[in-house]
Amino acid sequence: MKPELPDAFLCSLAAAVGEQHVLLADDERAPYEMDWTRRFQGRAAAVVRPADTRALSDVLRLCFEAGVAVVPQGGNTGLVGGSVPRGGEVVVSLRRLSHVDVDPVEERAVVGAGTTLQQLQEAAAGHGLTFAVDMASRGSATLGGMVATNAGGVHVVRYGPMRSQVLGFEAVLADGTVITRMTGLAKESAGYDLGGLLCGSEGTLAVVSRVLVRLVPVPRYAAVALLGLGSLAAAVEVVTTLRRELPSLLAAEVFFDDGLALVREHAGLPRPFDRPHPVYLLVEAADEADPAGELATVLAKAPGVGDSAFATDSRERTRLWAYRERHTEAVNAAGVPHKLDVSVPLAAAAAFEVELRALLAKEAAGARLVLFGHLAEANFHVNLLGLPRDDERIDRGVLELVAAFEGSISSEHGVGVAKTRYLQLSRTEGELQAMRAIKAALDPGGILNPGVIFTATPE
Ligand code: MLT
Ligand code: ZN
Repeated sequence: MKPELPDAFLCSLAAAVGEQHVLLADDERAPYEMDWTRRFQGRAAAVVRPADTRALSDVLRLCFEAGVAVVPQGGNTGLVGGSVPRGGEVVVSLRRLSHVDVDPVEERAVVGAGTTLQQLQEAAAGHGLTFAVDMASRGSATLGGMVATNAGGVHVVRYGPMRSQVLGFEAVLADGTVITRMTGLAKESAGYDLGGLLCGSEGTLAVVSRVLVRLVPVPRYAAVALLGLGSLAAAVEVVTTLRRELPSLLAAEVFFDDGLALVREHAGLPRPFDRPHPVYLLVEAADEADPAGELATVLAKAPGVGDSAFATDSRERTRLWAYRERHTEAVNAAGVPHKLDVSVPLAAAAAFEVELRALLAKEAAGARLVLFGHLAEANFHVNLLGLPRDDERIDRGVLELVAAFEGSISSEHGVGVAKTRYLQLSRTEGELQAMRAIKAALDPGGILNPGVIFTATPE
């Protein structure tokens, strides 16, 4: 990697994107150099901001020819260090590729990679439609980044993750070649599913410039319930029942009493119930007919519910959601967390929690665990505060525990640079070899986000 770029190369970049969109000064680059958690940071040789696919293609071709590494970046809301430089790369910010074109008849949209989730949601709402993936970082997370990480969010139980929404794509390969498949045909079996491959590829195979995504009708009615429960096992039992008996189920999110205390302190929120509970489950149901009655009926049968609060109007629903959605910012305000986004089989979730707490009590007594996540997929966000920034012994212990439960070391945040050393815990040697072969074929010069997903040298 080259820390300083030759003048001629910088001139060519400026010709491609416009001089004012090649950022070289420290203060101009700084917002692109540190990730959202503040745990991952590096110096970029330059930040370039192409406005369209053609300029993006020119930038990649120039970098390919010069052997300069590239870090693609969207809203910089990544949590695993995959969208910030390690040192000396060119950061390619896709924020200017921001446009939405909604097709209300086909219920889909063509979206630029730099469009935020909220911009897409607002454009879709004008047609009574919405985007199926939703998450708290909607104001800054971009569609390109969401494709890159195969983002999940809070509605996966109903609609699936990003990969289930992408009907077509346009992407730029390492050498600047633009590949496009935007037909969005309902049936297509003519060769490999390259769009599916790009979902979760974290900018290591190509840079996504546009996507064709499906939209879904905004359900006419919604109802939210917040439940206080005695244990995670009880919450799992409720979720199992909801998945089976409530077709209108949209979200089932979990958090714990200590996380709630942190959120309340950070956001100044009142107690949701008069008495505390070890575990909280936030459930949303949404449908064309009001689901409040069927939600209450299913929950009335569920064992182990200590307290419950229901909300149907939008303000009250948002109030209940805040207890869950504000966890990330509350954790970040308390320190620089080690964030481990993992999933285990739902049936093993309660046992996993017990062993996780036992492991931390034994190995990291001084660390503070804030656990929350998407219980319908047993996707837990293990946030650890109070650990030295670069000491990964506890991270390894947690991820090995996840592997012992036959879970995944990355459920929706990606591998980034944070988890490259642990990928073999979730993938077989054969899979890793196939993945490396794909990487080598599509990025022979190794310029696309090097050090992400795979360690720079095989271990
Ligand atoms: C969430 O579910 O809130 C996000 O994945 C962010 C996080 O894990 O902090
Ligand atoms: Zn999440």
